[in-house]
Amino acid sequence: MIIAYINGRFLPKQEITISPDDRGFLFADGVYEVIRWYEGFFYDMEGHLTRLKRSLRELRIDWKETDSYPSIARELIKMNGFEDKPAMVYLQVTRGAAPRTHSFPSSEISPTIYGYAFDFVPDRKGIESGIRVMLKEDIRWSRCDIKSIALLPNTLSFQEAYEKGMKECLFVRNGIITEGSRSNAFFVINKILFTHPESNFVLSGVTRKNILRIAQESGIQVKEEAVPESSLPAIDEAFISNTSAEVTPVIEIGGMKVGAGVPGPVTRLIYEGFGREISKLKISRTL
Ligand code: PDD
Repeated sequence: MIIAYINGRFLPKQEITISPDDRGFLFADGVYEVIRWYEGFFYDMEGHLTRLKRSLRELRIDWKETDSYPSIARELIKMNGFEDKPAMVYLQVTRGAAPRTHSFPSSEISPTIYGYAFDFVPDRKGIESGIRVMLKEDIRWSRCDIKSIALLPNTLSFQEAYEKGMKECLFVRNGIITEGSRSNAFFVINKILFTHPESNFVLSGVTRKNILRIAQESGIQVKEEAVPESSLPAIDEAFISNTSAEVTPVIEIGGMKVGAGVPGPVTRLIYEGFGREISKLKISRTL
């Protein structure tokens, strides 16, 4: 039986009901987080909590108990028997239920908080051998920095990639590669690591932030600068990052081979650095 969280209670998932007037359902008026559980600890809970608070603030959703997110997530892992397994926790906060009107409800309504844990099998093949991705015009709104549950452009684009046998879709806005439909994008040109700067056109990925730190610690030169689509022929390596993909090499973009068409040395270095960080955290938890 799957135990999920709803508005202060842990219940069997099939017993959970949500109002049809919920603004998450009617307007996609909400935010979410996905965090990875590494058989004993959450990776960068502080980073996810900080981003959750920021997303809520930007949408003016007032969840007074935001600081309970870590304990809710921990409890979901425990109650579902995932303590010694790789897992994820999804948490969504919407503005709450109220009769449909575009303006925010005038009366005090409580946000709807929903969370669940699920077991997770990393895509080892993709991480080892690299993935092929497609390119597509960025049709999203211009507040991609908010981790909003309104993800239709992302799901449509990802589905298109999936149907073409690819593992991600990278977005291009005004000739600039912004990020993936569910990941941040990195490029290596002449041994320098490039990624789109933090802005309203990309999500500030928790993995992105940690990769930038790990790259710097590994002596890799980093530039938070956008890469135009026209520079694709000059790219030596590329990879995507997110909570589930960690560091996944990209070996083909829009039908064009990246470098030699195999994961490159800078990507490997960062992947190994990330792996070492996880191992260290695992050891420190068991001491
Ligand atoms: N997506 N950019 C977009 C558009 C994303 O949806 C995500 C994550 C990221 C990477 O963020 P992070 O490193 O914090 O996971 C970047 C999650 C995994 C999802 O929607 O399932």
